[in-house]
Amino acid sequence: MLANRRIVLGVTGGIAAYKAVLLCRMLVDAGAHVIPVMTESAQRFVGKATFDALASEPARTSIFDDPDPIPHTTLGQTADLIVVAPATARIIGSYASGISDDLLTATLIATRAPVVICPAMHTEMWEHPAVQDNLKLLEQRGVHLVAPEEGHLAGGDLGAGRLAAPEAIYEAIENTLSNGDLQGRTVLVTAGGTREAIDPVRYVGNRSTGKQGYAVAEAAKARGATVTLISTVAAAAPNGVEVVRVESAAQMHAAVLERSEADVIVMTAAVADFRPVTASDSKIKKVEGPPKLKLEPTPDILAELGALKKPGQVIVGFAAETEDLASHAQSKLERKNVDVIVANDVSAPEVGFAYDTNEVTIFVADGCQRHVSLRSKRQIAEEVLDTVGQILVR
Ligand code: CTP
Repeated sequence: MLANRRIVLGVTGGIAAYKAVLLCRMLVDAGAHVIPVMTESAQRFVGKATFDALASEPARTSIFDDPDPIPHTTLGQTADLIVVAPATARIIGSYASGISDDLLTATLIATRAPVVICPAMHTEMWEHPAVQDNLKLLEQRGVHLVAPEEGHLAGGDLGAGRLAAPEAIYEAIENTLSNGDLQGRTVLVTAGGTREAIDPVRYVGNRSTGKQGYAVAEAAKARGATVTLISTVAAAAPNGVEVVRVESAAQMHAAVLERSEADVIVMTAAVADFRPVTASDSKIKKVEGPPKLKLEPTPDILAELGALKKPGQVIVGFAAETEDLASHAQSKLERKNVDVIVANDVSAPEVGFAYDTNEVTIFVADGCQRHVSLRSKRQIAEEVLDTVGQILVR
């Protein structure tokens, strides 16, 4: 989602400017091209050198002392998004009034890119009608606002006006750039590995941790979808996502089929292919000797979804492979009648189960395929949903 997007990060003079450093880091880590623009007073709180070192380009501070003779229009015209964090009462006032008195205000007025404003100031200033009126005006013009939080402010005061957390600003940037392309859609995601009982304490399982499924659910939510996550892991529900907990392949099968009307279904879960034919009701004692496990196939949920597929529905399967990635993925696309197979080579370093990163190839039923190099599972999720979005609009 953020890979190669040009983001102008406006930093103004407030104590919260240090949080802009963290935001800058997060955006760069996500693959964005970040260009900081600092006001004069911002530089009293955080040094330009800090942003020079962390961002994709050196921080810009002035219209006149810049190698580009017209930096504000170049920045404004080439940006995919401008975020101002923290935004002081002054910058909000100037922007609302169309006054361009430094590089940042000039850039804000010279752009047609979406703008995200993240105010931070003392409670009295935040609640002042002038500030509130200016923000209302900006919102009416389509500017996105990330409201400040309540909490400790400079000087030890407590109240509303503290800059939103970098994570919340990051999410707002993603939401703004995704343009809500899954707005009004229902998305069903499965996550984690299933556990197939041998007895009340033992099970046949796999190494899946659910991280990729959670990332898909979060990303779909951020794009405006109504998301249900069917999960075998206990991790907290992502914000605004309904979670249904299951354990076995049979439970996941029932939970998914109950909701198989969803517009998009992403089967990220590592569903066991085999389960013990019978599970003992009581714990098998050691003295009984090793049990003879007889296994039977589990229902293939993805294949059933493919067989039931309704027109316009998009079904995505995942394939964890250790060899012949492409041929296995192609054959799964055909055999299971699904739209997309996201294949990862789980034998490669830092790929697949338990890692925070993944490297995949996305195979689409129309024959297209795209390799996505090693990156965070959230970024992989965005790439998968970009593909889903392209199929949905066809
Ligand atoms: N899957 C499923 N139900 C199962 C097993 C798998 O829905 N009982 C789904 C997984 O969620 C995943 C996809 O099928 O999206 C791929 O799973 P995988 O086990 O790799 O596919 P198979 O074709 O069963 O495996 P194999 O490589 O052994 O042919």
